[in-house]
Amino acid sequence: MTPTKIQVIDHPIPVFRPFSGEEEIEAVAEVLRSGWWGQGPKTVAFEKQFAEFVGAEYAVSVNSATAALHLALLVAGVEGGEVITTPMTFVSTNHAILYNNATPVFADIQADTLNIDPDDIKRKITSKTRAIIAVHYGGYPADIERIQALAAAHNLIVIEDAAHAAGTTYKGKSVGSISPLTCFSFHPVKNLATGDGGMITLEDGDWDARLRRLRWVGINKDTWVRSRDKDSAGYSWEYDVEEIGFKCHTNDINSAIGLVQLGRLPGTNARRREIAALYTEGLRDLEWLQLPITTGEGIVSAQHNYVVRCAFRDQLADWLRDHRIATGMHYIPNHLHAVYKPYATSLPVTEREWTRLLTLPLYAALTDSEVQYIIDVIRQYPHA
Ligand SMILES: Cc1ncc(COP(=O)(O)O)c(C=O)c1O
Repeated sequence: MTPTKIQVIDHPIPVFRPFSGEEEIEAVAEVLRSGWWGQGPKTVAFEKQFAEFVGAEYAVSVNSATAALHLALLVAGVEGGEVITTPMTFVSTNHAILYNNATPVFADIQADTLNIDPDDIKRKITSKTRAIIAVHYGGYPADIERIQALAAAHNLIVIEDAAHAAGTTYKGKSVGSISPLTCFSFHPVKNLATGDGGMITLEDGDWDARLRRLRWVGINKDTWVRSRDKDSAGYSWEYDVEEIGFKCHTNDINSAIGLVQLGRLPGTNARRREIAALYTEGLRDLEWLQLPITTGEGIVSAQHNYVVRCAFRDQLADWLRDHRIATGMHYIPNHLHAVYKPYATSLPVTEREWTRLLTLPLYAALTDSEVQYIIDVIRQYPHA
């Protein structure tokens, strides 16, 4: 085949990039002018709208998904027990287990989706298991139905790490409304970005109340609630501390951005899926490149990333970098990190697949011509 001439793009293309406009700037300016920068009315509105968006009873905002996972595992009561988890994730998922003085037990992943494998979860359940964490890798949902069936049979709590999955639908249900506790991330490169932030969605009222205390050093009444106290002249200073909490609440600057981003999410996620479809269409005939699964029955992926696989991943990354296209690698399997050596076990699928993974650029503002350029550059890679 004679190579076609590439339409050169004259600027660097990052892997990820937040999508925002004048609305976010205006929303932040409004909060700055209001004089209430801390956790207040914008946070209350963001939690309410996020809960409605995913169809959950409660949504508790925090300052990151790392904090969300830490607190979710705390209310789940995993201390001293084992938590079955995936190695194919950002380390926060598993650090949250260690923060809670519990033991991470790694299960292998499914080769097609890179999500935790229910068959291996089943093999790893012991009398000490308290919970299972399922990460929706790249926004494509883990096999929650089978995971929940295992959890129900052994009286375990399922916690979803939905850092990649704001807006994902699984068998017709929104992620965030399925398991007892679901944790989201609003880190700058996530589908819904607030600068940094996180959310826990849940159904249980007692857990909701406890999470609200835990996120703000254990205090049982936040400042905004006290400032609205009808029994005092506008501000009541009284509160109690029933247990030691953490300082991981959010603020109205981030929440104001979150409200705008939540409104954009259906559109930005749709654009992500459109870009993924362009990649798939433009690369599907390359026999040396394996493409990700992006659709399934009853599944709408938030399409956080687009991860291809090939035998010469590092060389392909260099080739793309030479053409000013950045790539990523998600993830170094967590059990290979020094901190997780004591919990390392044989995970053949993970250990085989991770050396082939390469994350291509994907963000809502990526244009069709940039996508075409990336496709052209990959197609011209001299792989033979
Ligand atoms: C799967 C996964 N879990 C958890 C996190 C932690 O999110 P945050 O940066 O909001 O703490 C991330 C962020 O990169 C992630 O990708």
